[in-house]
Amino acid sequence: MTHEIEIESTLKETRKFKPDAAWARRANVPGQAAYKRMAKDAAKNPQRFWARMAKEHVSWFTPWKKVLDWKPPYAKWFIGGKTNVSYNCLDRHLEGENAWRKNKAALIWEGEPGDERVLTYGDLHREVCKFANVLKGLGVKKGDRVILYMPLVPELAIAMLSCTRIGAVHSIIFGGFAADSISDRVNDAQAKLIVTADGGWRRGSIVQLKGIVDEALEKTDCVEKVVVYKRTGHSVNMKDGRDLWWDDLMAEASADCKPAKLDSEAPLFILYTSGSTGKPKGILHTTGGYLTHVATTAKYIFDLKDEDTYWCTADIGWVTGHSYVVYGILANGATSLMYEGAPNWPDEERFWRIIDKYKVTVFYTAPTAIRTFMKWGDDHIKKYSLASLRLLGTVGEPINPEAWMWYRRVIGRNHCPIVDTYWQTETGGIMISPVPGGVTTTPGSATLPFPGISADILDHDGNPVGPNEGGFLAITKPWPGMLRGIYGDPERYVEQYWSKFPDKGIYFAGDGARRDKSGNFWVMGRVDDVMNVAGHRLSTMEVESALVSHPAVAEAAVVGRPDDIKGTAVVCFVTLEGGVEASDEMGVELRKHVGKEIGPVARPDEVRFTDALPKTRSGKIMRRLLRDIAAGRETSQDTTTLEDLSVLARLRESDEA
Ligand code: PRX
Repeated sequence: MTHEIEIESTLKETRKFKPDAAWARRANVPGQAAYKRMAKDAAKNPQRFWARMAKEHVSWFTPWKKVLDWKPPYAKWFIGGKTNVSYNCLDRHLEGENAWRKNKAALIWEGEPGDERVLTYGDLHREVCKFANVLKGLGVKKGDRVILYMPLVPELAIAMLSCTRIGAVHSIIFGGFAADSISDRVNDAQAKLIVTADGGWRRGSIVQLKGIVDEALEKTDCVEKVVVYKRTGHSVNMKDGRDLWWDDLMAEASADCKPAKLDSEAPLFILYTSGSTGKPKGILHTTGGYLTHVATTAKYIFDLKDEDTYWCTADIGWVTGHSYVVYGILANGATSLMYEGAPNWPDEERFWRIIDKYKVTVFYTAPTAIRTFMKWGDDHIKKYSLASLRLLGTVGEPINPEAWMWYRRVIGRNHCPIVDTYWQTETGGIMISPVPGGVTTTPGSATLPFPGISADILDHDGNPVGPNEGGFLAITKPWPGMLRGIYGDPERYVEQYWSKFPDKGIYFAGDGARRDKSGNFWVMGRVDDVMNVAGHRLSTMEVESALVSHPAVAEAAVVGRPDDIKGTAVVCFVTLEGGVEASDEMGVELRKHVGKEIGPVARPDEVRFTDALPKTRSGKIMRRLLRDIAAGRETSQDTTTLEDLSVLARLRESDEA
């Protein structure tokens, strides 16, 4: 383990926050005793617990015959059950005793330029039925893959729900990815349709989504049609016979579309994410188990009530947006707020203005955002009441205790519980988190596995480690929202997640963690080659292969460096081809090149040139050495010096090899 320092710093954390009694009384899990009963019952028989959750939180057309079929590492949940995600997120809120929700806000949306829209459950149902008919009209069938590459507008949620309505499988690509990243994903998924927009707003500028799709489509031949939603209204190229306007199609579409009765294990979506190799993996999630997991966790962890205005700031392009902007929230009939743009547009007060304006009650964001707010200063925030807030959440990376305390004090005004939620694209839903009202929190710890989730910290041999010893975070029993595979790559699924502790049916999450004496989990970050950069997941190898695709680069090694704001900064060590000079300009060019290849999210923070990369005798790049060098250096400005890392390498060789 390389996390001794981190353990040292979090070991000193002793502050504890007991649930407030008055808050807890009104909570969906009303107090510590209720939580303990729930956790105990779930631990005794997790399958029985999840079956109860599936009955309470999901409506089924046909009940399942068997709760779980577990042939490690392959799980099937609620076998024989038939349901539909869009039915659960929409139709059932318009029927029977819930029919009053027809005119309740499902989505409250604010665009970056300040435009506003509210879609009630009735509105959203109608739009989804129409777009589902559009999809059918374009020849999309059950099981077909549809790519969604859109700004954060309600139409993205509409497109997702429309896919689920007819059993098509969506794969959303975050708007910060570049053309090559899109064509890779389109080809891997063999998608036949793309839904995009002319553009989206980001810090006052237009992100040219349609232009990027056009470029991507030069490298694919499976896509038959492109549906374009008009968001910005600037002129874009429309290819005859291939490209169609969303509005034209919707104008003709019928609002009558029955939800398909889908098998519990029917594929729901594929979401590409970085792993420890160069190629992103298509994480596959299915229907009934996923929905049970996200609906249950949303209800208890975000304590959702009908009167809440819940705001998760994540982009829907990431799993957080799938599970906790759309599916988990709408399944509960709650109101989800979406904001299209940047937090500092037109100024740093945008988020606080939104919270006061819409009286947001539950606010869920990332530690990297919290640290950025801290940097902008409290004065921006003090002007706002924020009195509507009652619960705060974080996700995406470990939160340092200082940022947690700041979040509690400055945003939560010392009265909002904080839920630090640990999970992954692969887990589908939250795995480790306090249940507010029921669990005592401590800054920096995600506390306890959610009831029904079995987590442990293991050593290299798969044995549990003692209190406060670092180890590998593992999930020891299957859970309903778990990934069902990597699309098109069954071997990688086994190798990536289930081979660390072979034949035991234990899922290795890729994170290091420790557990303290009270059983609280402290996640310390990735122990593989995955970096969490400002809440975005990137693999060092993805960035390396983008670098070596530049003609001037001979070899590259990429490491993460701890960063106060972004969590991790991307540092590249590059050796250039003979005859190419190391220069500041070359550094700038390479940073741009990576941005162009993968997308702006991956643009390196620092490029350092070296005449040789430090390697062991067997030729392995000494990443630990590079990580030390990257972390130890004060200034990141001077990129011109050619560093002779081979000397250092020779010094270190004996202890690395
Ligand atoms: O390293 C962990 C970190 O984010 C990784 C998963 O990234 P991704 O699949 O993009 O999903 C992010 C949103 C769910 C994990 O392996 N991570 C996520 N949440 C936390 C976290 N690390 C510490 N504490 C968290 N609350």
